[in-house]
Amino acid sequence: LKEEVLKQLKECADNADIEKVRIQCLGKKGDLTAILRSMGGLSEEERPEIGKLANEVRAIIEEEMKVIKEKINSLEASKKVKSEVLDITMPGRIPEIGRRHPLLQAKEELESVFMRMGYDVVSGPEIETVANNFDDLNAPYDHPSRDWSDTFYISDDLILRTHTSPVQVRTMREAVKENKLPVRAVCTGRTFRFDDVDDTHSPMFHQMECIVVDKGVTLANLKDSIDQFVKELFGNNVTTRFRPHNFPFTEPSAEVDVSCHICMGKGCSSCRGTGWSMELLGCGMIHPNVLRNCGIDPEIYSGYAFGMGIDRVTMVKYGIPNIRLLFENDVRFLKQF
Ligand code: PHE
Repeated sequence: LKEEVLKQLKECADNADIEKVRIQCLGKKGDLTAILRSMGGLSEEERPEIGKLANEVRAIIEEEMKVIKEKINSLEASKKVKSEVLDITMPGRIPEIGRRHPLLQAKEELESVFMRMGYDVVSGPEIETVANNFDDLNAPYDHPSRDWSDTFYISDDLILRTHTSPVQVRTMREAVKENKLPVRAVCTGRTFRFDDVDDTHSPMFHQMECIVVDKGVTLANLKDSIDQFVKELFGNNVTTRFRPHNFPFTEPSAEVDVSCHICMGKGCSSCRGTGWSMELLGCGMIHPNVLRNCGIDPEIYSGYAFGMGIDRVTMVKYGIPNIRLLFENDVRFLKQF
């Protein structure tokens, strides 16, 4: 029995195995326990001898059990230490570094161009009053842009602003209140129109507004500023083209095109042979009614303003074919900037 149990103990791999052997040998119904119990049936001479032998065997087995238990425990402990060991030669995990979104880059670049030219950077809310967005900008009551099908109405007199031009009104009023005329300011921000999504349209887009009000500001100043600004943005080789247009809040008004920066105006597939890459912005001399609505006397002051789609500029600048790319936040796209 002793040999048999010692052999079993040697084969034990963990504490549970040892426990099994212990119960089988020394437990209530164990083999050795049975021998000790049956001692009563032995003769007077046999009893002490067998008893001594059985107790010796028990001692040996218990001692061996203790040794093997210790061995297993230390083995398990060292296994644990090994699995938790810190390998300081392993290469580190390099964290992914985020990038500025191309639109944010464009916005910051635009603002810094104007800041260098001495403009203030201002802002206004995305939820605007109908008064600031339309009425005070001289938009007639039947102007199509006011339609429910073009503008997101929140209530009868609150909307999501359809352009950044209401910031003109806010800025001029503020300047009058604080006695801080003349005004030279730019504003960038989100704008909203009820448009279906396609390659160049999105119901949410971005604009930059520029406004200058001073004594003696003329159309020549407007043309010169825009020309300078466009050259800062696209390089000295581009040229601009002013086309007459109509906005309720400016008179006269124009739209400005920029020569294609790929073929330099010669005509290529990107500009469909026209030499002009895009309609960049709307502009004009601030309408006297708008000045009056803001408390400025048009007999003394005049001003110009322009508004530009930042998404468009970003798309042309980086050759992005689809506006959706700017809003889907696909990391594979964003990583390229
Ligand atoms: N607000 C006009 C638009 O969204 C652009 C504009 C701004 C035109 C300022 C003239 C002056 O189309």
